[in-house]
Formats: sequence, structure tokens, C-alpha cells
Amino acid sequence: MKFYIHTWGCQMNVYDSERLADLLTANGYEEVSEAESADIILLNTCAVRENAKEKIYHQLGRWKELKKANPRMIIGVGGCVASADGEEIFRRAPEVDIVFGPQTMHLVPGMIEKVLAGGGRQIDISFPELEKFNILPPIARGAPSAYVTITEGCSNFCTYCIVPFTRGPVVSRTVREIMEEVQRDVDSGVREIHLLGQNVNEFAGLNEDGSESSLAELLYKVSAVEGVGRIRFTTSNPKDLNDETIAAIGELPKIASHIHLPVQSGSDRILALMNRPYTAESYLEKVGKLRAARPGISISSDFIVGFPGETDDDFEETVTLADQVGFDQSFSFVYSPRPGTRAAAMKDPETLENKKERLYCLQKHLTASADSISLLMKGTEQVILVDAHAKKDPDGHSYQGRTENNRIVNFRSDKDLIGEFARVRIDEVLPHSLTGSIIEGN
Ligand code: SAH
Ligand code: SF4
Ligand code: F3S
Repeated sequence: MKFYIHTWGCQMNVYDSERLADLLTANGYEEVSEAESADIILLNTCAVRENAKEKIYHQLGRWKELKKANPRMIIGVGGCVASADGEEIFRRAPEVDIVFGPQTMHLVPGMIEKVLAGGGRQIDISFPELEKFNILPPIARGAPSAYVTITEGCSNFCTYCIVPFTRGPVVSRTVREIMEEVQRDVDSGVREIHLLGQNVNEFAGLNEDGSESSLAELLYKVSAVEGVGRIRFTTSNPKDLNDETIAAIGELPKIASHIHLPVQSGSDRILALMNRPYTAESYLEKVGKLRAARPGISISSDFIVGFPGETDDDFEETVTLADQVGFDQSFSFVYSPRPGTRAAAMKDPETLENKKERLYCLQKHLTASADSISLLMKGTEQVILVDAHAKKDPDGHSYQGRTENNRIVNFRSDKDLIGEFARVRIDEVLPHSLTGSIIEGN
């Protein structure tokens, strides 16, 4: 039987979908790249904002037609919407056969078998701790960069956020398990390791001797692996970014010169209401330390605009902070109330129209800042990890790679450099990419 997985949401969902595909492949199913030719369609979902969730029900509506044409088709919904909505999914989308949560991906093959055996609809959205990681080692995908989840779930309960409800409490994988996965990735040609967690700064995985490892200690270990050329880690809640981690960023050249450090708001009053226990000042202090430890480090952020009770003055403080930091490519969203969260019960008098205007204004500042960083890259030398042929590649000699601060660089080379690091000089800055020329000696 053939299966197709469609993934919405964050990098952790991408990682989960890859593991689920590995597991189904090991169980004899064959992965296909479009829903139309599959017997099993699985949707890995995101519930972080209302529109992210609604997109999923629209998609299911479209797949209903496919099922009409092929009544034996199995449709499964997993991830954070599955976790938040549970049985409700069967009511809203009766064509769905299987509902599984972010922590029960590994049970999907068994659920499929039960459906095939005539057992009817299957649902399991429980939070068995870390069980899903014990199933299978990752199968090599031939990509030069690989995600490795180091913590699962989140217990921070920022007042706007649904993630602690959908993914369960925070737990860390053991250092040994992570290092084995890193080694397997490297053995299969991976050069960049991207460590994942909702707040990687809280990592507290057990060492062999039963002691807990900090994120910084883990970074030293991953950095010591021969073959690892670049390390990224996402996401860092600023409240837990400590001096030890900042020192590691300063000392380990393999760590990419970029950090995603979502500030959410520049108003201390709103940060307190969000249950983000830091202030604009303490955030700026950490930015200062990062820049002292790693001159030129690129810093990006997420922002929520129009949190309940945000005034024009609060919003101005966010814009001021954004201008002070000079962020690299960042994400910003209008606040979306999530059922069951504390913020959803807060008074929210501002109109959506005003919130959208604020978002537009902030995005102008953020885009100008990211664009000015791109412009400054013109003429500089950059190390890129070459990941593919360029999108426009008329003769097979155009390639693309990523800089440490996540810019795509297109360049020409006679040698196939896919999967390798290359030194390029940036020639041209375009709206969504850069062009460069290879520097001799690669
Ligand atoms: N764990 C990460 C965030 C994960 S969610 C952290 O703590 O930084 C990714 C982003 O979605 C958040 O940073 C936030 O900006 C946005 N987000 C989360 N809940 C939201 C909501 N209810 N409305 C709008 N944006 C939200
Ligand atoms: Fe959500 Fe806060 Fe946890 Fe991030 S740290 S996932 S924003 S609750
Ligand atoms: Fe979305 Fe769940 Fe990730 S809500 S952002 S897929 S943790």
C-alpha cells in the first residue's frame, strides 16, 4: 500500500513526519509524493493559530472527494490539531479513520492495521513519554542537513500558547540517544545538525552516569563529532538563555552565527501578561552578551501583535525594541485566541483592523532591517552549505546553498558541490535570494 504525508506547522512536526515515514516504510508501505496516488493519506497538523487549524479542515474537505473515488482509502489526522480536537475531528470530518497525537506517531502502523481489519475508527492522543523515539533509527534522506529533536513538549504555559496542551509536558531525550542519532546522520552524509525543541534552553537530558546535561554541554559534544560542520538549535525562550550557552556560542565555531530568540513583545507589561518572564531590558542585555561573544551574530525573532490589552504605547515599545536590536528575518503574527489558554479569557477590546495595521507597521520595520542585513552582505565572503541544484538550472551547473544566517545563495560551479560547504563571494542581493561566485580553493 502507498502512503502520503502532508505536514503543516513547525520543524518539530517536520521531524515527526519524517520518523513516521521511516516507520511506515519499514513496515512495508511505500511513500508517494501526492495524495492522489496514495491508499493512506496522513495529515500532520498545527494548532498554533486559528487559521492554521482551519486550513486543515479545508484540506480534509478536498480529500473527501478522493475517498469517494477510492472508498478503501484511509485518512489519518495527527499532530497538534488532532491533540487539541480529538474526537471532534470525526464529527467535523467524518471521512477521517485515524486520529493520533504528536506523541503517538509510532502507533500509526498498528492503527492502520486495525482499520484494515474492520476495526473501525481509531484514536490515541495520549502522551506516552518519549516512547516514539524508541521505535526506529532515522533512515538516511540524502539531505546535507538533519533535524534532531532533543526535547519534546513544553511546560512553560505562555498564556497565549496552545503547545503545552497539544504536545504535553517537557521531557528531554538522553544524551546517548541524541549522540547516536547525530552519528548516524553524519555517517549518512549529513553535515549540518539542527537541534530542536520548543525551548532547547531547558534541555536536561541524562548522561550515562545519571547526571543531567545542559544545552551547552550537549553543544560541546555535538561539536566534537567529526563530520558535523554546522550546528543550529531552535527555539530559545529568552528567559532560559544563560551565560553558559552564550559562552558555548562564542567558543564553538561550528555553531551557526545565527540565533532565533523570540521576544514576542517589547512591552514589559505585555510580556508579564504573556507569562514571558523577561523584560525588554533583560532581552537587550542578552543580545549584547551574544554580540560580544559572537560579533556579527544574526538574531531573529517571533512577534505577537495585538495581544489582549495591548495599547498603542505597548506596540510602540515593540517597534522601538525591534529597531534597537536590528533583527534578521523574523516572523510576526496577529494574536489568535486559543481555546483553553489563559489569554483567551482576557479582555481584548482592540479591533482586528487596528491589530492588522500594527502588524503591517511592525513588518515594515522588520523587513527593512532584514533587507539592510542582506545589503551589507554584498561583497562579503560567506560559507554556504550546498543543498541542491538551483531552482533555475539550465545546464546542471547552477547550485544553491545556505549562509549561516539562512540566506539562499545561487552560484555556478563546474564541480558538483551538493552536500559540501563552499566559500562564495556575494555578488548581488535580490529580494529573496543572493547570487555569489565560488572562491577558488574550495
Ligand atoms: N516555543 C517557541 C514558540 C513556538 S510557537 C518559543 O517559546 O519561542 C511559534 C510562534 O507562534 C511563537 O513564537 C509565537 O510568536 C506564535 N504564536 C504562538 N501562539 C500564538 C497565538 N495564540 N497567536 C499568535 N501567534 C502565536
Ligand atoms: Fe508556547 Fe511558550 Fe512553550 Fe514556546 S515556550 S511552546 S511559546 S508555551
Ligand atoms: Fe504548531 Fe504544534 Fe508546532 S501547534 S507550531 S505544530 S508544536
